[in-house]
Amino acid sequence: MACDERTVRGVPLTDQPRNHGDPTTMADQPDVTITVRDNAFYRIAGPITILDGEGNPFEVEAGKVVTLCRCGGSATKPFCDSTHRTNGFSSAVRAPAPADAGSAG
Ligand code: FES
Repeated sequence: MACDERTVRGVPLTDQPRNHGDPTTMADQPDVTITVRDNAFYRIAGPITILDGEGNPFEVEAGKVVTLCRCGGSATKPFCDSTHRTNGFSSAVRAPAPADAGSAG
């Protein structure tokens, strides 16, 4: 199956709704928070759907917090299995500080 033939629940990816940050439709989206944990996983809280490369969903209980591997070592990818604790993974990223609105250059 070619990448452009993937589907989500029978609907081709090319026909999936996309809002690209349109604020008029963002309000309709559920709140999802992704936290990048120091030296560990991505923690995702909120209603989400995780799909494999063919568009098949992983079973994720509604309302359950999910942790996704970012160290590459998990045997249960895309989910974290705590291998990051023993494989030497190290990453503590920080979001850039917001631009100072009063310091026009
Ligand atoms: S981040 Fe936990 S196993 Fe990779």
